[in-house]
Amino acid sequence: MSTPPLLVTCGLPYTNGPCHLGHLRTYVPADMYVRYMRRAGEQVVFVCGSDNHGTPIVVSAEQAGVSPRELSEKYHGHFDATFKRMGVNFDHFGMTDNPTNHKRTTAIVESLIKNGYVYKQIVHQAFCTRCKRFLPDRYVEGICPHCGTPARGDECDQGCGKHLEPGEIKEPVCKVCSTKAEFRDQEHYFFKLSSFKDFLLPYLDSVKGTTNAKNYAIGWIKEELHDWCITRTLDWGVKFPGRDDLVVYVWVDAPIGYISFTEEWANKEGTDWKQYWCSTNRVTHFIGGDIIYHHCIFWPALLKGAGYGVPYAIVASGMVKVDDHKFSKSRGYVVWTNEDYLDKGLPADYLRYYLLSYTNHTKELNFSWKVFGERINNEVVNIFGNFVYRTLFFAHKEFCGIPEGAVDPAITAEIEKTQKNVDIFMQDYEFKGAVDAVMSLAAFGNAYIQSNAPWKLIKTDRTAASNVIKNCIQLVKALALIIEPVMPEKAQECWAMLGYSDAIASHPISEAVKEVRTAGIPAPKPLFAKMEDTQVSELDNLLQKRVTEANKKMEKNPIITIEEFQKLEIKTGRILAAEPVPKSNKLLKLQVDIGNEKRQIVVGMQQFYKPEEMVGKDVVIVTNLAPVKIFGVESNGMILAAGDAASLLVPLKPVEPGTKIR
Ligand code: 2FM
Ligand code: ZN
Repeated sequence: MSTPPLLVTCGLPYTNGPCHLGHLRTYVPADMYVRYMRRAGEQVVFVCGSDNHGTPIVVSAEQAGVSPRELSEKYHGHFDATFKRMGVNFDHFGMTDNPTNHKRTTAIVESLIKNGYVYKQIVHQAFCTRCKRFLPDRYVEGICPHCGTPARGDECDQGCGKHLEPGEIKEPVCKVCSTKAEFRDQEHYFFKLSSFKDFLLPYLDSVKGTTNAKNYAIGWIKEELHDWCITRTLDWGVKFPGRDDLVVYVWVDAPIGYISFTEEWANKEGTDWKQYWCSTNRVTHFIGGDIIYHHCIFWPALLKGAGYGVPYAIVASGMVKVDDHKFSKSRGYVVWTNEDYLDKGLPADYLRYYLLSYTNHTKELNFSWKVFGERINNEVVNIFGNFVYRTLFFAHKEFCGIPEGAVDPAITAEIEKTQKNVDIFMQDYEFKGAVDAVMSLAAFGNAYIQSNAPWKLIKTDRTAASNVIKNCIQLVKALALIIEPVMPEKAQECWAMLGYSDAIASHPISEAVKEVRTAGIPAPKPLFAKMEDTQVSELDNLLQKRVTEANKKMEKNPIITIEEFQKLEIKTGRILAAEPVPKSNKLLKLQVDIGNEKRQIVVGMQQFYKPEEMVGKDVVIVTNLAPVKIFGVESNGMILAAGDAASLLVPLKPVEPGTKIR
């Protein structure tokens, strides 16, 4: 049987925020892989799309005051455009909320039900009595039952990283209104993941891709495999078959997007999508290291249970740091693809180079503007760019183009060696190794032109100089062809400088050894501009400014735990008497009944309230603050008021003095 075609996908970005470096760390290597495989002769389809469902989108849409669909369309367009700007060229970029995905998800869930992998169960689900709704996933926060760290409803994001099932989180609190949630019984549907252990272990043993993905997954399976609750109480999503009140969990319909996007692409092309998703396939998923569980355990089991082929390879990227700090939008350690990079006029190819060459795909990548500037200047500009420019400049000046003569077999051998190395690295998903191999060829070219010094040779032996230059041009041609998956735009420019007018991407990599023809070439221009120190500092200053501002915001509004908040004692109190503090035109001295005792409290409200206006009012008081003396008068508590005009917070319905605020 012939090898099935490659289908490459990337983890789907949620449509609730812009594209950043964390996204690119997965998309750029996937794009490089696709470009390379195509030019190595493979038939490849590259699909992706946006992830529109789930609570992250609903919560963000609520905050933005738009519908989840509107928010999704906005960010869908944003990602589509940004990927194109970065040279990440999908054959199709779909949306999980589109009809194809609704239909495919329904069909798959129905197959799972028919095959006996879905059962009903009552779940103690967090419920907010104030918002009067169940609190799925990110609508609830609390304490991780495994490690005790504050966590989101569906994931211990700051602690052990475990996935949390509905009802598992401890001390749940409503994310919307901060009310302590209670557990209520609700009927949900579960996927029998636990019955896939015997399938998953050998599957993961043989699955291709990076070892981080399979090793983590094997470890988790050996620990324990829980069934998954696959329904949620939300309006937004794909309806669970036969239940109008439930949608499927986003992690069901999101990966199914990979199939529906293939269907949409195949429909456009007039071909059959099924060949990509049958039992022997070459579906290769590029994902971030944080979603290994979903792709290596849940997804293959779901596919298997529904009778589809399981993924051939899973390639998981390592984490991204910024200035040696954990990537964090709220702390300012983030680089936005458009705002911080492309909109500043920086070439997409520089960032592609940095992301691909910084370290191995599975290791942690640290981004800093300083290192970025250094690597671009020392490697891209000084090694690659310098060799190309020296060669073409000399050829144009002395020979008006590419001279006649044969290419030295030693040069061809060097190119062949590079090609072989690159291929080994690419088959192994070792993108850095591949980039390094091309850069070594550029360094070889530099050393070759330097030691043969054609600018000297031409004075005594024009033919010898022409041979050297011919060899150098062969190297430039090879470099352009092999670097294309890394820096597609620059490779195209280099191709044009060699006098070609077609698309470099239409040529197989193997043409790197095909002897370059004799022809005229245009006057060359430097391929790469140096990153100036001032420019690097400016970019770095922007990042530092964002971090400082984020810090200030955090100090002003530090995130506190529910335990810290619970330390405050807040009660209602009734003002019994009020009089101005002598010699002060701001302060009033109040006597307040707080239930079991009377308190004296000083407030700065003389300009807003007459003393007699305050008497009889029920107000809200922090009652466990340490007493202080203000203008020599003791104050024992703090009355809460809003804004510059000190609008008093008062209970809406009558309450007894001393009623606890909860
Ligand atoms: O973690 C995320 O950002 C998800 N939106 C990834 C989904 S990938 C796939 F399975 F759909
Ligand atoms: Zn609530």
